[in-house]
This record gives sequence, structure tokens and C-alpha cells, in this order.
Amino acid sequence: MQDMTDFINQVKRANDIVDVIGNSLELRRSGANFVARCPFHGERTPSFHVNRNKQIFKCFGCGEAGDVIGFVQKYESCSFMEALEILAKRAGLKMPENISDEDHSQEKKKRRDRLLSVLRETAVFYWRMFYSSVGANARRYMENRGFSAETLKTFGVGYSPDYNSLPDYLTKKGFTYREMADSGVVQQRQDGSCFDALAGRLIVPIFNINNQVIAFGGRSLEKNPQFGKYKNTSDTEVFSKKNNLFAINNAKKVKQTSGLQYLVMVEGYMDVLAMWQAGFTSVVASMGTSLTEQQAKLLSRLTDRAYICYDGDSAGQKATVRGLDIFAKEGLEVRVMSIPENLDPDEYIGKYGKESFAQLLDKALPLADYKLKLLEQEFDIKNTNAVTRNDAISRYVKGALKVLSEMDDAQQQQYVKTVSVKSGFSEDYLKRKLAAHMRGEPVVVQQPVDTEMKALQFIASCMLCNQPYAKVKVPQCDDAFLSGVFRYIEGLKGADAFADMVYTVCPDATAQQYDSVLSHEFSKENYQKDKQYFAECMSLVKEHRLKQRRSELLEQLKTADEIASESLLEEIQKINKQING
Ligand code: CTP
Ligand code: MN
Repeated sequence: MQDMTDFINQVKRANDIVDVIGNSLELRRSGANFVARCPFHGERTPSFHVNRNKQIFKCFGCGEAGDVIGFVQKYESCSFMEALEILAKRAGLKMPENISDEDHSQEKKKRRDRLLSVLRETAVFYWRMFYSSVGANARRYMENRGFSAETLKTFGVGYSPDYNSLPDYLTKKGFTYREMADSGVVQQRQDGSCFDALAGRLIVPIFNINNQVIAFGGRSLEKNPQFGKYKNTSDTEVFSKKNNLFAINNAKKVKQTSGLQYLVMVEGYMDVLAMWQAGFTSVVASMGTSLTEQQAKLLSRLTDRAYICYDGDSAGQKATVRGLDIFAKEGLEVRVMSIPENLDPDEYIGKYGKESFAQLLDKALPLADYKLKLLEQEFDIKNTNAVTRNDAISRYVKGALKVLSEMDDAQQQQYVKTVSVKSGFSEDYLKRKLAAHMRGEPVVVQQPVDTEMKALQFIASCMLCNQPYAKVKVPQCDDAFLSGVFRYIEGLKGADAFADMVYTVCPDATAQQYDSVLSHEFSKENYQKDKQYFAECMSLVKEHRLKQRRSELLEQLKTADEIASESLLEEIQKINKQING
């Protein structure tokens, strides 16, 4: 058994870092070092240095650094083991059996290579057919859809003329029916004979991240629904639809040549082709499946920011959110793009042009904003009916608290503001509810009842008009507008208020809300009455707050253990005393 460390060192000795990197980049000698333009971030002037003595590389632009294995890992977007294997192969060294995992056992590898050869030959065959006379229809179809010769070449678009030509061709190349069937390119009949699985279709080859053909997508050129618009190679030893992303090989190439800021994830092959042609080259497609953890892992090998661009119908939206959570869990920063009119990217670019599409990209929402927007739509919180509106807002807030609870502190601070503006609850109130939710306590979201709102409005009126009896500490308040008013008064630290300032400190309020604190007329005759009513309002608000706290505690009591119950009861008794006093 060979020691792993020994083998790694052997591989490193056999692969000079300058030679290896020199194969991929244009290295220029500069003093004791070699320099190049960094492949890991876009740059014009070279800040990527390679040191032969130390056998290391370092980029002074983006900070990327490492040894020869690290370079291959980064450049090929692969794992340590895969990089080790690439370099071992390059130096003609055999991976010791005991350190290569099962997938790399010689037997399996040989078989895999054989299937990949079938797939590569098949791609070549389809490609030739597309440009031959039998492919005229397919070529015209793609031309009519506006795809350029360059786009078709880049993606290796092909055509399958009929059922038999492909198996005949592959037989001449020395492949058995069994190998053809195992690679998924043909299907076998009862009698053992074969036919092209994608006969008569336009062909889009699917490559893995190492630029090997692993499957095909076939689009019907007829509108005959009997055939299904798309048919793909079924899952095989080298292809599984849900573990792969269409055009991931292109994304890797883009990363190697000009750096990758982000990747856009779309649904369809044609969307990728259309976006690529319009200059949006950082794009991959999920091939119509719901998003998987494997796809998220694959994507995160290339980038840490993903734009998801999916169908806008509402059934699609819920599925999208589930998929997005999977992506976020892999540490990807997720943004959601919405395309109007239920168009897909290909259709949108065709109809409105690439500049307009770029704007949609710019307007993509961070995942949290997208989730909150969905809640807002789901519960229809702009609903004008007062009764159902309150109910809708309570539900919205509950849903929003769940979204907020998954964020870090800094994000929570920011999004509490958003939810406050949307719901009309004060930030303080929402923070208290959020804290309760995160402690796992049941949360009841309540609109301030009418009497309390009236009381708070009167208190605010007195304070804004500088009534002497109102020079007291502002009350706590769950309403966003009123708590804005109270924050202004508190900030004055006893100095006189200017009532008109409410328009400045609460710029988003409604006319009704402004009215509720500005319309009361204070007069000498009513001074005593107002003073009396102010005191009543203050104690009503205070009592309401205590009662609310008490019902929260009672709710907690239902699920509390013995020790917790004791302190809860103590607090409840204290509140009872305060209410009665
Ligand atoms: N798909 C599939 N099998 C189907 C339908 C769809 O595999 N029967 C996958 C394909 O990868 C397809 C994607 O789901 O590209 C999205 O479907 P659709 O929006 O219909 O495809 P488009 O690429 O938009 O095709 P076109 O523009 O040619 O209609
Ligand atoms: Mn389409």
C-alpha cells in the first residue's frame, strides 16, 4: 500500500507548475517569475505570478494562490482527487488503487470511456447530418428562429435523419448494439435490433463540466403533439438529468477566459442558446426538472451567485422557492428574475431585445425580497376591505416572521423595516414577535384594537400640540405610523414639537393617518376635559400592553416545563397586581 502523501509529492515532482500552467495560459517571463493574465478574475494587465523555485502561483489582483494541484482544482473547477488524477495521468503515473475511490476503478473507468466514445461519435454524426442535404429542414428551422451559424457551431447543434442511420454508422465504427443502448443513443427492439432514440429530431448535445458529451436533447420539428416537443437521452451510467446542467461546460470556459461574476439559471435549451447569442454567456439550464442539491453543488463549483430565471406562473413559483432554498443552502447568493407576460428568456429577447433583458437581470430580487413579495401577493394585503385586510396582514406578518427568522442579524434589521412599511406594524413590535418566534414560542399577531388606536392617536395629538400635561414619556406602540410620530417627539427631548413635521418624519402615511393626529382642535374651554381624557388614554394603553403581555405569557405556560412555569406564573402575578393597582 502506498502512502497518500508520498503519492501526492510524486505527482507534484512530476508536474512542474510552470509547464502545467503554461499549457493553459500564456506565460511571460518577468525576472525570476512568470506572469499571465489571471484566469480567476477578469483583468487587462497581468497580476498572476508563477514561481518555479517555490512551485507556487499567486494572483496579486484577486488573491488566489496555491500549488500545482490547487491550480488544476481551481482552473478545472474540480475536486482535489480529480485534480490529482488529471496530473497523475499527465505525468504517466498510475493512481494507486487504494486511494482512488470506487468510481475510478480501472474496470469501471474503461467502460465509462467506451460509452463516452459512443456519445462523442454520435454527436459527430448528428452534427454532420445537420450540415448535409438531409439537414436542410432542421437548418431552416433554426435560421427561422433567428439562431446564427456561430451559435449553432458553439453548441454543436445536430440533426437525426431517421431510425437506422445512426446505428449503422456506429456499427461501422466498431461499437456493439449493447454499447449503443447502454449509452442511451439507441433503443433496442424485442428482436435485438436497434433504432435511433431521437430519430427525426433536432439535436442539442449535452456536455458535462469536463466538456464530454454525455447525452442529447431532441426537439421535434413538427407541431405533432403525438411526438412530444422534447425527448432526451434517458438516464445512463454517465448521465443523470437531475445531476447535470445544460451548458455547464460553456460556463466553465467563460470562467477560464474572462471570469464569472454570476450564473443565470434558466429552464430550456433554447433559452441558453438565445441568451448566449445576445451576449449573456454566463448561463446554464436545468433541463426542465425541479432544482436538485447536485445541481446546486455543480453550480457552486463555478460561482457564488446564481440568478434564477423561471416561468412566472404561480404553480411554478412555489416550486421555485423550494428549489431556491436548496441553492441557498449550498451557500449560493440567490437572486430571482421575473419575466413579464409569461415569456421565456428566448421569447423575451426576441420580442423586447437584449438591453431590455439586461434590465430584468438588474432588477432581479434577492431571495428574501422575492419570498416576501410572494407572501404579499398570496395574502393580498393591499385588499381594501377593512375586515379581511386585517386578517390578511396578520397572515402576511406570520409568514414574514418565518422568512426573517432564517436571516442573519444584519439582514433582519434591514428586512424588519420592509415588513413594517408593508404591514403597518412598528419595527419594535415586529422585533418582539420575531424574537418570540425564534425562541419557538407560539406567535399571535394582533392588530391594535380600535379603542387603543383611538387612545394612541389622541396622545399623539396632545404631544404634537405641546399640551403641558402631555410632556411625559411616549407610550409603546405597535402601529408603524404612530410609532414614527412618537419617535419624533422622543427625539425632541422635551423641546416643543412642530405638528407639521409629521409629514416629514412619516412621509409614507395616508391622508387619514395624518388627519388622525392633526385634526383635534385644542381650546381653553376644553382644557380640563382634554387633560382628563389624556390621562385615561395613557392608562388604557398601559393596561392594554400589560394584558397583551399577560396573554403571551399564558400562551407560553401551555408548553412550559416546571421550572419555566414557576417564573412565568411569578411574572403573571406581578402583571395582575399592576393591572388591579
Ligand atoms: N423538457 C424536456 N422534455 C419535455 C419538455 C421539456 O426535457 N417533454 C426540458 C427541455 O430541457 C426544455 C426545457 O425542459 O428545454 C424547458 O421546456 P420548454 O420551455 O418547453 O423548452 P424551450 O427550450 O423553451 O423550447 P422551445 O423554445 O423550442 O419551445
Ligand atoms: Mn422557448
